[in-house]
Amino acid sequence: MATFGELLRRHRVAASLTQAELADQSGLSRQAIADLERGARARPREGTLARIVAALRLNAPERAQLEAAALHGAGDPDRVALLPAPLSSFIGRESERSELVSLARARRLVTLTGAGGIGRTRLAIEVATELQHEYTSGARMVDLAAIASPLHVLTACAATVQALLENCRELHVLATSR
Ligand SMILES: Nc1ncnc2c1ncn2[C@@H]1O[C@H](COP(=O)(O)OP(=O)(O)O)[C@@H](O)[C@H]1O
Ligand SMILES: [Mg+2]
Repeated sequence: MATFGELLRRHRVAASLTQAELADQSGLSRQAIADLERGARARPREGTLARIVAALRLNAPERAQLEAAALHGAGDPDRVALLPAPLSSFIGRESERSELVSLARARRLVTLTGAGGIGRTRLAIEVATELQHEYTSGARMVDLAAIASPLHVLTACAATVQALLENCRELHVLATSR
């Protein structure tokens, strides 16, 4: 099932409107439209949906589908569950986080290195959580910590990641390593 944000974007593009134009015609802020499209807001408020439906001139079935997606909240629950939910709040690292978000968007393979325990995995999870709605299939974490042999992990990882990147054009990999 498409998320509310995906449907909204699809209808807006079909109506040949920019986010700013839709904001104008619906009386909402451009930020609100952008947030809804990328899933930063789980669901639209009561009046928001009606304004969007009117501005996009949706027919009854389109409206029903959009309402169903809105009720469904953040969308595909599988997608959200694929990243671990940290139990503590994230502290500091604001510049690292925003730099890494930009890097991970621009490059298909980014490796975060450093000594054990300095917070690479935690930072990567924060970044992946922030970016997951920008990707059709969301984001997933592949935890290799249980594999004991470093030599096996390194060679197998390099070959696997190379094959994945060559064969999946939309894939981005954010790796953490010592
Ligand atoms: N910025 C942060 N805010 C809060 N907790 C953090 C932060 N960075 C790391 N931690 C916590 O510190 C511990 C070690 O971090 P982790 O990311 O596993 O390190 P690494 O992957 O570099 O070995 C984890 O429990 C993690 O949740
Ligand atoms: Mg780690």
